[in-house]
Amino acid sequence: MFMNFRRIRKCQCVQLLTTGLVLCVVMVCWEQLDHHVVSHMRSYTYRYLVNSYDFLNSSFAINQHRRHSQESDGSDGAVGGVVSYPYLINHPDKCGGGGGGGGGHREGRTRDNILLLLFVKSSPENFERRQAIRDTWGNESYVWSKLRENVRVVFALGVHPDAGQRSQVQRALLQEDQTYGDLIQQDFVDTFHNLTTKLILQFHWAHRYCSHAHFVMSADDDIFVHMPNLVKYLWGLQSTQAGAKDLWVGHVHRGAPPIRCKDSKYHVPYELYPWPSYPDYTAGAGYVVSGDVAAKIYQATLVLNSTMYIDDVFMGICAKAMGVSPQEHVYFSGEGKAPYHPCIYDHMITSHGHATDVRSLWQAATDPAVDSVSSGFMGSLYCTAMRVMLLCRPYYQNTYSCLAAFT
Ligand SMILES: *[C@@H]1O[C@H](CO)[C@@H](O)[C@H](O)[C@H]1NC(C)=O
Ligand SMILES: *[C@@H]1O[C@H](CO)[C@@H](O)[C@H](O)[C@H]1NC(C)=O
Ligand SMILES: *[C@@H]1O[C@H](CO)[C@@H](O)[C@H](O)[C@H]1NC(C)=O
Ligand SMILES: *[C@@H]1O[C@H](CO)[C@@H](O)[C@H](O)[C@H]1NC(C)=O
Repeated sequence: MFMNFRRIRKCQCVQLLTTGLVLCVVMVCWEQLDHHVVSHMRSYTYRYLVNSYDFLNSSFAINQHRRHSQESDGSDGAVGGVVSYPYLINHPDKCGGGGGGGGGHREGRTRDNILLLLFVKSSPENFERRQAIRDTWGNESYVWSKLRENVRVVFALGVHPDAGQRSQVQRALLQEDQTYGDLIQQDFVDTFHNLTTKLILQFHWAHRYCSHAHFVMSADDDIFVHMPNLVKYLWGLQSTQAGAKDLWVGHVHRGAPPIRCKDSKYHVPYELYPWPSYPDYTAGAGYVVSGDVAAKIYQATLVLNSTMYIDDVFMGICAKAMGVSPQEHVYFSGEGKAPYHPCIYDHMITSHGHATDVRSLWQAATDPAVDSVSSGFMGSLYCTAMRVMLLCRPYYQNTYSCLAAFT
């Protein structure tokens, strides 16, 4: 009797424990699900009903007394807003010299008329990606020979994060740069959490050495840029009165909530950003700003606290403080990948996730036959139908939105 009672107690105990455990698991999962839904609801509500991000100006303003600068090589650092690292590899004359306020170099040389300065955010070890880009969409001579337009493509880098490999990788980088002359490297560790430092590098370099570029673009090294389409789009903007000013275009995220889950790469703690949603920003995969906006962002980086390490969000904060809003373009992708089809190649600007197939896509997308597919009334009808089939699926697919089918 007594034994039996004990056994029952034991069984119940196990049962109770198991139930408790299951409940715990469910609750943790539920909480995460719940958080996800609730945080999106809060962030959209905030974005679409309140939509005031005035706190950004004062909250991110740098305390004047704490400003300091590590810039060793000149005038940039004298302004003294942010920590800026010395250049290890640099090409001050990439844009034909005479950048704004750079001072001292190449008096006599005339500036090149640069339509677009394009920064590719690369990492030291990504030699192959850089090579693929140089051979395809990043080929400056191609753009000159086909479109008679000056673009400059440079790669923005820090130093290799692994101290053991650093000197070897650095030697390889110097050699690569000797051949191609297109690396811009500063002395900071090239990590995910230093991407904002890389963003600052880009806008500071543009300000100092290429302030006369009509447009500045920032892109990941695993995206594909349809350079001819991009150049034609920029021409279109320039031909309108207002178009080439006050422009920030890309794949826009509106009302995105900060991710509080500690396991996420994009985790942002409350201390860093306590509010329910980020200001609007374009996906960092690829976006374009006009020269005047690039100058404004540069100014903002001097006075804003750059501890927000998600670079595209930091860009959003800078833009908000300067009164610049992003514009959506359906053929700039965020995470999305373009479907492989001539009717898409006709319109696409950027497509994400092309570390390995850049060369084949470039061949296909710039084939002269692409134009003829969509020409004429029948061609354009055919292509619209094709695009509807490719983009307007009832289930989620990671590509351009259905809207893009009708442009
Ligand atoms: C920037 O913000 C962080 C916390 O968000 C703070 O610890 C740091 O002191 C600030 N830096 C400056 C220069 O104001
Ligand atoms: C870049 O384009 C030019 C002009 O079309 C071409 O002659 C050259 O071979 C290309 N360079 C590379 C590395 O593909
Ligand atoms: C960013 O780079 C600086 C300079 O090299 C380094 O001290 C810092 O630890 C890096 N930060 C991260 C988060 O990697
Ligand atoms: C503060 O932000 C607004 C945009 O939200 C901007 O128009 C204004 O110029 C900013 N003011 C200061 C002092 O930075």
